Amino acid sequence: MKKILDMISEEVMRAFEEAGYEAALGKVTLSNRPDLCEYQCNGAMAGAKKYHKAPLMIAQDVAAKLSDSRVFEMADAVAPGFLNLKVKNAFIKEYLCGMANDKKFGLKEPKKKTIIVDYGGPNVAKPLHVGHLRSAVIGESVKRIERYAGHKVIGDIHLGDWGLQMGLIIYELQLRKPELPYYDESFEGEYPKEAPFTISELEEIYPTASGKSKEDPAYKERAMEATFKLQSGVRGYRALWQHIIDVSVADLKRNYRNLSVEFDLWKGESDVHDLIPDMVAYMKEAGYAHESEGALVVDVKEETDTKEIPPCMILKSDGAALYNTTDLATIMDRVAQYQPDELIYLTDKRQDLYFEQVFRCARKTKLVKEDMELVHIGFGTMNGKDGKPYKTRQGGVPRLENLIAEINEEMLRKIKENSAAKNYEIDEKEAEETAKIVALAAIKYGDLSNQASKDYIFDIDRFTSFEGDTGPYILYTIVRIKSILNKYKENGGNLSQVSIQNACNDAEKALMLELTKFNAMMEAACEEIAPHKICAYIYDLANEFNRFYHETKILSEEDEEKKAGFIALLVLTRDILETCIDLLGFSAPERM
Ligand code: ARG
Repeated sequence: MKKILDMISEEVMRAFEEAGYEAALGKVTLSNRPDLCEYQCNGAMAGAKKYHKAPLMIAQDVAAKLSDSRVFEMADAVAPGFLNLKVKNAFIKEYLCGMANDKKFGLKEPKKKTIIVDYGGPNVAKPLHVGHLRSAVIGESVKRIERYAGHKVIGDIHLGDWGLQMGLIIYELQLRKPELPYYDESFEGEYPKEAPFTISELEEIYPTASGKSKEDPAYKERAMEATFKLQSGVRGYRALWQHIIDVSVADLKRNYRNLSVEFDLWKGESDVHDLIPDMVAYMKEAGYAHESEGALVVDVKEETDTKEIPPCMILKSDGAALYNTTDLATIMDRVAQYQPDELIYLTDKRQDLYFEQVFRCARKTKLVKEDMELVHIGFGTMNGKDGKPYKTRQGGVPRLENLIAEINEEMLRKIKENSAAKNYEIDEKEAEETAKIVALAAIKYGDLSNQASKDYIFDIDRFTSFEGDTGPYILYTIVRIKSILNKYKENGGNLSQVSIQNACNDAEKALMLELTKFNAMMEAACEEIAPHKICAYIYDLANEFNRFYHETKILSEEDEEKKAGFIALLVLTRDILETCIDLLGFSAPERM
């Protein structure tokens, strides 16, 4: 389906042409004076110079050509030369019927791409903390949005599962349990199936080991040896490493499931370890990489740079691979396995320069084709009410689990309060489940409603409020619609037999106009990779719906056909809202 603004513009362009002016002047925009009109065209002002004519006269000529338009109920030329436009109810009705019959509500399929979204990025054996929230929440939404648009999208968690952190754990464990068979290089038997630690032990081992290595150089030396043995494939070290991965991944899966975040690939840095030597050799042979102060680097600065872009380091002077090296090898691997057209990475924006270097290096060394899109979405920090990075009351970096538990609790309190105020019975179990659903919406909407690159303040009181620009408000609106639809069904109505009618009042028309914006909004959200546009849209849509709801008797309407028209509009509003929240990564309960 065409976007409604394009259809309206075409109509005005036709009128410009018929009146003897250039068609391009007929571009229409949303009105910035909603009290006067719904849409406006400023083309007459732009045409005044070219046609040596007063803009108002041009606007009047055009308005005359629109007087019997099938699109406009009003096309007024007003001083100094604006065209104020209102569309016919029948025109909007027809447009909405088209949307209701289209499985993507009028959104056109773009040229299909294969996109890999690299998000989450947790490190194994370390608990998820609040710093991991944004990557997961934004990444999940980006994945869903691009998939909805029609692209083939693969989400990859890209685990931090290699390097010194693993050596540290392996060595610390050796000190604690030297009797384990993994350290005995002459051992040829089968290793135990059971891991020699639980997730809580693991989560304690890592920080302890990391702390010790910072104080004690000999300890660090041993941990580096363990890392080396692991990387060179010593059997016992690999087996132990696998235990660490398994225990940690099981816990990560549970955590991400609670966030409704789902990865297609659980690959990690370790997966490309074996690709590194060949990649490095290639970069050297092709003359891309050269030695600099003992290290191997690829220059990536460009003449047009306004700031210094340091070279991309491929190997350290001791020959060790770095974070860059793994990311480049991962790009190579992704190209070979999935032939993607685009790679999207989500990390804190402090990694902006890093990704600039990696992307330039990948292009320069021809790991990727010229037209491959490489996108880094660097997000801002989640701050506390004091404007500083969010901390626990004790001042530490909060675990993600605790943060979620805190919101769940607050939400549960509100749900109970609300059911008491509204006088409906809700048992403990339903209350808890509902609280979880609504809490997730509170967290995700609170994050996604901000442009990703901006910092935002994590404010539990505001995010969990049922009023204002919040997730719970959106859910509340959906629940309200569902409850009306349920009552309609209980009274014998059939939702599949209703169809949208012409608007009966201003509030209904406003709601209808808001609905027509869906495809244009989605197209922009998808092209610009901008979930916040969906949030802004559903907030406006929910507001328009609630205004309509307060101004219209829906179920008590006596004219059955009119009532059925309202119901059809409710169905479309619910479907669009539910589609949108699904793309943001949350869902609505049956009641709240
Ligand atoms: N594990 C990394 C970190 O904790 C994030 C990984 C982001 N993705 C990537 N391909 N570099 O900082």
